Amino acid sequence: MDGKSFSAVLRGRVSAAVGRLVAERGVAPGLAVVLVGEDPASQVYVRNKGIQTRDAGMNSWEHRLPAETPQQDLLALIGRLNADPAVHGILVQLPLPGHMDAGAVIDAIDPAKDVDGFHVLNVGRLGTGQKAMVPCTPLGCLLLLKEQLGDLSGLDAVVVGRSNIVGKPMAQLLLAENCTVTVAHSRTRDLAEHCRRADILVAAVGRAGMIRGDWIKPGATVIDVGINRIEEEGRARLVGDVDFEGAVQVAGAITPVPGGVGPMTIACLLANTLTACCRAQG
Ligand code: GUN
Repeated sequence: MDGKSFSAVLRGRVSAAVGRLVAERGVAPGLAVVLVGEDPASQVYVRNKGIQTRDAGMNSWEHRLPAETPQQDLLALIGRLNADPAVHGILVQLPLPGHMDAGAVIDAIDPAKDVDGFHVLNVGRLGTGQKAMVPCTPLGCLLLLKEQLGDLSGLDAVVVGRSNIVGKPMAQLLLAENCTVTVAHSRTRDLAEHCRRADILVAAVGRAGMIRGDWIKPGATVIDVGINRIEEEGRARLVGDVDFEGAVQVAGAITPVPGGVGPMTIACLLANTLTACCRAQG
C-alpha cells in the first residue's frame, strides 16, 4: 500500500478545500506547532509539518521553547493560542522534557483546537462514538485500510501495541468500523497465534522487525506503524515493526517503511486542521 501517493491525493483534497474556504469566507486555517527542547527527530517532524502546512495554503506558526522552560510558561503560551481566533489547530510536539506533565499540558489545549486528538475529552468522545478530533496516525491507518478493503465489517483486527497515541485509538476506530478487535501488547501470551488470526494486522510496538512473516495469515492486510532506526553494515536505515521481506510474501497488502503510514500522518494533521477551522466557522 503506497501511503506516499495516497497521502498526496489527500493533501490535494485538503488544499482544494482550503482554497474554497479562503475564496468564499476569507479564512485560512492556521496551525500552531509548539516544540520544547531540541530532540533531533522532533525538529525534523516539526519542520516537515510547517512545510506541508504552508504548501496546503494554511497559516503555520512554530513556537520553539528551550528545554528548561517552566511548565507555567508553556501553559501560558497554550492559553494565548487558545484565545487566538486565527489559530485553529494547536500541536504540542511530544515527547516533552522530563520535568513537564504531558497530560496536564495536553489537557490545557482547547479540545476544539486539539488536532492531535490527545485531549481527554476527544479520547472520551472517540470511545463513545461522538464527534471527536481523531489522532492523526491511527486515522491515516484507517484511511489506508478503507482504501484497500472498502467495508471492514466483521473482519478480525489485531492491533499490536497499546499506546495512547496509536494502539488504543486504532482499536476504537476499528471497533467503530465493526471489526472484531484484539489489542495485543508486550505481555500478551502467544502473540504469534493472535497475529495469525488477523485479517487486519496493525503493528505499533516500536521494535524493529518483531512481527515475522510466518505470523501473518495469507492474504491479510498489514499496517506497519513502526519507525525504527537500525544500523546495518555501518549504515543507518529505517525499518518497521514487521519483517517486510518475510511478510510481503504472505500478506495481501502491506505498508512499507518508509513511505507507508508516515506520510499519511501529516496529511491527516492537515485534514484535522481544516476540520477544526470549518467547525470554528459554525
Ligand atoms: N510525537 C510523535 N508522534 C507524535 C504525534 O502524533 N503528535 C505529537 N504531538 N507528538 C508526537
